[in-house]
Amino acid sequence: MKINYFNIIKTTLLSGLFFCFYSPLQAQSATTLDIDASKTVAEIAPTMYGIFFEDINFAADGGLYAELIKNRSFEFDWPLMGWEQPNSDRHSYNKNSGIAVPVQYSQEQTNHNFIRVKINDASGYKLINKGFRGIGVHENENYRLSFLASNSAGSVTQIHFKLLDEAGKVLGSSSVDLTKGDWKKYRTEFTAKATSKKASLEITFSGQGEIDLDMISMFPENTWKKRENGMRKDLVQLLADMAPGFLRFPGGCIVEGRTLAERYQWKKTVGPVADREILFNRWNTEFSHRPTPDYFQSFGIGFFEYFQLAEDIGATPLPILSCGIACQFNTGELVPMDQLDPYVQDALDLIEFANGDVDTPWGKVRADMGHPEPFNLKYIGVGNEQWGPDYIARYKVFNDAIKDQYPDIVIVSGSGPFPDGDYFEYGMEQLTQIGAEIIDEHYYKSPEWFRENADRYDSYDRNGSKIFAGEYAAQSVAIASPENENNWECALAEAAFMTGLERNADVVQLTSYAPLMAHTEAWQWTPDLIWFDNLSSYGTPNYYVQQIFATNRGSDLLKVSARGEKLIGQNDLYASAVKDESTSEVIVKVVNTGASSKSIKFNIKGVKTGKKAEQIILKSDDLTAVNSIEKPKNISPETTQVNVQKGVQLSPYSVNVFKLKIEN
Ligand code: AHR
Repeated sequence: MKINYFNIIKTTLLSGLFFCFYSPLQAQSATTLDIDASKTVAEIAPTMYGIFFEDINFAADGGLYAELIKNRSFEFDWPLMGWEQPNSDRHSYNKNSGIAVPVQYSQEQTNHNFIRVKINDASGYKLINKGFRGIGVHENENYRLSFLASNSAGSVTQIHFKLLDEAGKVLGSSSVDLTKGDWKKYRTEFTAKATSKKASLEITFSGQGEIDLDMISMFPENTWKKRENGMRKDLVQLLADMAPGFLRFPGGCIVEGRTLAERYQWKKTVGPVADREILFNRWNTEFSHRPTPDYFQSFGIGFFEYFQLAEDIGATPLPILSCGIACQFNTGELVPMDQLDPYVQDALDLIEFANGDVDTPWGKVRADMGHPEPFNLKYIGVGNEQWGPDYIARYKVFNDAIKDQYPDIVIVSGSGPFPDGDYFEYGMEQLTQIGAEIIDEHYYKSPEWFRENADRYDSYDRNGSKIFAGEYAAQSVAIASPENENNWECALAEAAFMTGLERNADVVQLTSYAPLMAHTEAWQWTPDLIWFDNLSSYGTPNYYVQQIFATNRGSDLLKVSARGEKLIGQNDLYASAVKDESTSEVIVKVVNTGASSKSIKFNIKGVKTGKKAEQIILKSDDLTAVNSIEKPKNISPETTQVNVQKGVQLSPYSVNVFKLKIEN
């Protein structure tokens, strides 16, 4: 066959020309973003992008809290839950190698139990703890063990600790000589010879007789800031990297409790760690599809640690307190109005704990814990997610009492669990009437909802209450569905919505994704911003959306429009713009939720900017794409330099931050 090269070349050239002139990309005209940098619409609150922390999904115990021993103080409902004694038979006390039984302290105290270990045959008796879904240890890292022992009866002379991997290989070991006498704290340490995600701690003894033990604890030495009783370094680093404006704690529904007796009481979470009374975690059996019966709150991270964490990561602390209503999705138990005083007093005392002089009673507690300087508390939340007249009545009492004593403290109120409907309408109307300073709104909705509601705050009263978008996350399936994914479609929709939050920064002053963290093997609720196992952690695409917004928050809101209109979904584009006084930049965030790439141009009035700009891009062609322990940065920001003079291209399904230097 004779090949006609001329024809091939002609056809190739022609089709090339066809695509050059007729491709849909080229046919589409650029969208010009008109940005008015001559006027500040509003100052962006330093609190604009923050963190919502709740102990759900093993976020605190088993997660951020670096303690590796589960049920270290034998206080779970089943006091030996988490502990195994392979060579013991509970039903024949004296006949085995040995046995540990829980015993209550004779005096009433907040740490109720210890264990009494009876050793008949030291060569056979073992007590084993497997941590929180295993004990995660890293090769060459140092681990600190401590325990309380009372050694009055018998002749137990030594206690031996061995860290074993799943195959039973010894990764580290240490022995401690026991002295005779009443309760005493012992410490030892060892270095892990290898990395293991699911190690266990085996405890054995020398000698015979009885020994009492409590608070058997093991921490990595390498915690955040190397603190004893510290936090997991990788997880705090992920939080710090978000440059959060605030840290809301301790929740969430956990604030409220299923009943009032089970609410979060901050006073029980400060002071010596061993004395903090344990409480079950209300998420343990909340969802029958994800039961976690071994989920308890040790309060090893208590209010002091939360304040300290906020300080460490440069976030304003935002504690939320019970307003005297238990979770309305559970019992909705109400404290009678004439018995509300202790609840209000908790709020007043918390302000003293955070800010009071060291010679005030609660300021002294803070100082004794090692922080004489105040924590500079400015905000306090009354109630988490309450609704109805009972909430408004209680909120008013708190409001009056707090403002009376601390007029400068800003009070955060709540509009209930939904972003619309009767509860929401009623709450907003009442709170606005009272002149509530900041109202918290929650929305767990579909990605479409987020895209379609980017204009949500455009119609809010500019002189009314300020808004805290306190809990939000796009749900790929449905709220609380275990099938929800932290996928790119959700993150992209949140980014589109966030341009709306930012465009309304005169009204919206605090925002946070929720929930924050989840253990890959022990979660109850998905999606979550950060996932971790016993060794590693990663930020989801949603995390990176939060991060690039927060680290490019800017100081002054600017007006941005296209063809005279706000850009809220036309041609699948969403935009907001700010100026950063400290870096002298105009920062433009543009989200393309569409499947095709888009051309945009900048027309900036009021300041001169250079030809070049930094572009931070977060993108994926695949809306179902996720990050994972194996591929933690599958979707993560990339930074490039672009020439903006002739316009720039936005990739399909992309979040873009352009940083343009101001030249004059
Ligand atoms: O973020 C999970 C839960 O959702 C929070 O605890 C609660 O406030 C909301 O209903």
